[in-house]
Amino acid sequence: MSEFYKCAICGKIVKVIAEGKGQLVCCGQPMDVIANFQSVNEILDFAIEKEEEARQFYLEWAQKLENRALSEQFVLFAGEELKHKEKLQRVKGGSSFKPAAKQVTDLKIVDYLVDIVPTPEMDYQEALIVAMRREKASFKLYSDLAAIAQDEGLRDTFLALAQEEAKHKLRLETVYEKEIYSEN
Ligand SMILES: [Fe+2]
Ligand SMILES: [Fe+2]
Repeated sequence: MSEFYKCAICGKIVKVIAEGKGQLVCCGQPMDVIANFQSVNEILDFAIEKEEEARQFYLEWAQKLENRALSEQFVLFAGEELKHKEKLQRVKGGSSFKPAAKQVTDLKIVDYLVDIVPTPEMDYQEALIVAMRREKASFKLYSDLAAIAQDEGLRDTFLALAQEEAKHKLRLETVYEKEIYSEN
């Protein structure tokens, strides 16, 4: 079992390696369970949540960015993340696969989290960096899920999603190079 806790205040993530009865506390308050992957369904839920987070991120930043082209790009990404979410929901609803609990617990959730917390003061460059990290984490999540999926259809779904996130990352990197590097 891999249970992970996160502090809502400082962002620290703790992995439980042996169960006990005590409560985990950080910054003076109980820590939240962020994932406890014991089935494919739970992982799908995690991925669905990540897609929703990504969609919100792009929508929010699309409004804040002054750069028109990037803003439009973010709106497009928001739409694509929504499609990813819906795809995962359909997979979950179908449930034609056999959960592979043993292998699933090998995943390390920290690899899929973005450590920069976006702030309202974040500028154009920082927004791009956060977005690139998000896409990198998404790519890694789906690549790992594809690697552990035992069901062929499920594996294909994850591989396709990994490719789409890789494309998102590449598009952002292209913008970054064009806009940021060429200024200096
Ligand atoms: Fe996505
Ligand atoms: Fe993406």
